[in-house]
Amino acid sequence: MSKANGNKNEFASLPLNADDVARSLRPLEAASMLPPAAFVDQEVFDWEMKNLFLGGWICLGHISQVAEQGRFIRREMGPDSIVVVGGEHGQPHAFLNVCRHRGARVVVEPEGKVKRRLQCPYHAWSYALDGSLVAAPHMDEIEDFDKSCFGLIPVRMAVLGGLILVDLSGEAPEPDDHVGELIEHLDRYRTADLVSGGRAEYDVAANWKGIAENYNECLHCPGVHPELNALSDYQSGEYIQGEGSWCGGSMVLTAEDAATMGKEGGHAGNRSRIEGLSEEDDRTILYFALFPNALVSMHPDYVMLHTLYPRGPGRTEVICEWFFERRAVEAGDFDPTDAIEFWDQTNRQDWDICQLAQLGVATTGYTAGRYSDQEGTVHEFDSLVAGRYMEALEGRVET
Ligand code: FES
Ligand SMILES: [Fe+2]
Repeated sequence: MSKANGNKNEFASLPLNADDVARSLRPLEAASMLPPAAFVDQEVFDWEMKNLFLGGWICLGHISQVAEQGRFIRREMGPDSIVVVGGEHGQPHAFLNVCRHRGARVVVEPEGKVKRRLQCPYHAWSYALDGSLVAAPHMDEIEDFDKSCFGLIPVRMAVLGGLILVDLSGEAPEPDDHVGELIEHLDRYRTADLVSGGRAEYDVAANWKGIAENYNECLHCPGVHPELNALSDYQSGEYIQGEGSWCGGSMVLTAEDAATMGKEGGHAGNRSRIEGLSEEDDRTILYFALFPNALVSMHPDYVMLHTLYPRGPGRTEVICEWFFERRAVEAGDFDPTDAIEFWDQTNRQDWDICQLAQLGVATTGYTAGRYSDQEGTVHEFDSLVAGRYMEALEGRVET
């Protein structure tokens, strides 16, 4: 489907200087970081919302959340609300969360389960799981009212490696091109088959790019995450590159007795490992950022997914979920606490430091910093953003 964004055009200008953005796009050794306005300016934020989040593929979670008939998630992005629901034949459907009668939100809960219908709380129009309108009280005598024209408005959706991706514009490039060669890593870790074993939500007083940048480096790990650095040295690992809108790298479990990233030295859990991984994978953690809002962290026995929901230049909601082999979750003694508590602590350490950086970049007189040689993936992520800024500033796309 194609959705008119005409009412958002007034917010579409990008008040950045092309020379500043060009400095971010130089090779790392010569590059400057993104201009400070990119982290604090409302108009930059509005441009990003329209062009990067509502104008391309975004990740709304994992397929296991809607694998059952009638199970749904509701996610908000900018002015839009999207519902993804498990259909009658096992496949998920995605819709705008807008009743076709007088426009009320149909789904109010962030997640849940219905039997066979989504019913609007206002005047009880009800919709089948495929979005078709099946009941509309007091509409039978209304002229030229064709129920089949008033189903929930579908949203373009793709599920790749178990990640639920939606494109609200309906015009983004093919999802396979967006995910590119990241799919090989997702498939190797069987992300499509894993199931959720835990979840946490956070409200972070920082720009979404600051959170993604922080995810993409471990230079801060010795100071900010001493527990993490004890398991996995910040200088271990390598960059990983490939086709697609993502960046990432590996790190090594350098603590000899650690079996994974977890509390109590990474050897508290005795879960099933992810099937089919190599001996090398067993000592490796992979960290990927799928542009713009998904962070995927792969461990020998679980995968962690952060999805970012920007709410303003200085505020981002984050959902973090942990996924395991089904047989691990179904085992009587399944206990994900070591992994969840480890990363919950790490997450909170990250949010604290991201919030400090957010305060700093908003300071009058701050100018863009420089990248260290440990921040190659940060530079790659920023280049994905700066490349899009540049297209707009050079008039190659509508602004
Ligand atoms: S707005 Fe939904 S039934 Fe009236
Ligand atoms: Fe961190």
